Amino acid sequence: MRVSVIGCGYLGAVHAACMAKLGHEVVGIDVDPWKIGELQAGRVPFFEPGLPELLEEVLAAGRLKFSTEMADAQGAQVHFLCVGTPQRKGEYAADLRHVDGAFAALLDSLEPGNVVVGKSTVPVGTAARLAEDLAGRHPDAVLAWNPEFLREGFAVKDTLAPDRFVYGVPDGGPGERATAVLDEVYSAPLALGTRRLVTDYATAELVKSAANSFLATKISFINAMAEVCEVTGADVTVLADAIGMDERIGRRFLNAGIGFGGGCLPKDIRAFMARAGELGADQALTFLREVDDINVRRRMRAVELTRTLLDGSLLGKRITVLGAAFKPDSDDVRDSPALNIAAQLQLQGAAVTVTDPQAIDGAQVRFPELTYERDLDEAITEADALLLLTEWDEYKGLAPEHAARLVRTRNILDGRNVLDSRAWRAAGWNYKGVGRS
Ligand code: UDX
Repeated sequence: MRVSVIGCGYLGAVHAACMAKLGHEVVGIDVDPWKIGELQAGRVPFFEPGLPELLEEVLAAGRLKFSTEMADAQGAQVHFLCVGTPQRKGEYAADLRHVDGAFAALLDSLEPGNVVVGKSTVPVGTAARLAEDLAGRHPDAVLAWNPEFLREGFAVKDTLAPDRFVYGVPDGGPGERATAVLDEVYSAPLALGTRRLVTDYATAELVKSAANSFLATKISFINAMAEVCEVTGADVTVLADAIGMDERIGRRFLNAGIGFGGGCLPKDIRAFMARAGELGADQALTFLREVDDINVRRRMRAVELTRTLLDGSLLGKRITVLGAAFKPDSDDVRDSPALNIAAQLQLQGAAVTVTDPQAIDGAQVRFPELTYERDLDEAITEADALLLLTEWDEYKGLAPEHAARLVRTRNILDGRNVLDSRAWRAAGWNYKGVGRS
């Protein structure tokens, strides 16, 4: 099929390459000429395992092209909207400027019978509003909402072999046509048994908001338990293992630590609260404010634990933060808890050096006042405390005896509870985890 993908950020670039991998002829469109130049040259402008190889393969096969011109979407039967929906400045609500702008521009390039497919995370009600605009301009085109659930770091796998597809479509013939077209687009993963649910627009939009809210709640739940563990001397990692053995609960997403960040969970739960308020259902989601508060408290707690490690004072102390990305296998520093903690420590008088295998360039732009060092050994040399805040493999595998020879004082805060506390203590370290005695 001929497919266009509007918006070539994390979501769109991965989606475009994966659609080409599935055998479709794809054009990826973005207003940013630099991004389009990089992608067309086979360079991925962010870190995503597996994507550079995939991009090279589909570009070489001639099935993927990039353009800054919306007019190049013409000729495609299916148009995927993959633009971002960031948080509005100073508000909880999502900023729909890019969705509305891209959609309006796309209307000029549509042809009879085209299917427009929204993938961006939007407030419930957006699809119905856009469908009305579409009906006014192109009565025989149809809109579907097909939310994306990909995780950074696993984006290629999550797109080619997702857990499920959700199609939000209108009633009757147009909905059936949109469903048939999406089934054709996704015929390869569907043939492998991927489940698919066909529903209305509002439910499809809410599936995404609800899934992210549930994941955020799960993380804040275990972090709340970590707070209780800290005042009782209990161990939150054992607690998580034990409750996770109950199949109704499950162990995944029960890792206590410095909390969640990134470009999705924090802004999505806030946008969901804002939308519920607009709809008069704010009470239903007041618990998400608590989820958000618990999450933000983790960052302050990490600062306090660091101060305790350093005998009550941060002034003039040399602190090395291991990890700047919001999670491993990503160079994304949007709302990164690690960087937030690093900046707070620096503001409170410490001299903070940050290291990360992939995220230093992005971190430098956001927090230029911090010191950055790419080499791990260099970064930890003469440190008064190490803070493991993003669980990259190289930090999980750091040998305590080796690190001991480089630092000035053997203090370590394991902000993700991924180190072997006994081995670190045996090597003479003052080890502190999160939610464990
Ligand atoms: C998330 C959703 O998982 C994905 O389905 C959706 O499409 C987009 O948002 P992503 O932002 O890539 O994906 O990251 P995710 O793997 O969900 O992690 C989010 C944050 O939670 C990270 O900062 C991570 O470190 C933190 N986290 C995750 C925990 O603190 N504890 C856990 O147990 C799991």
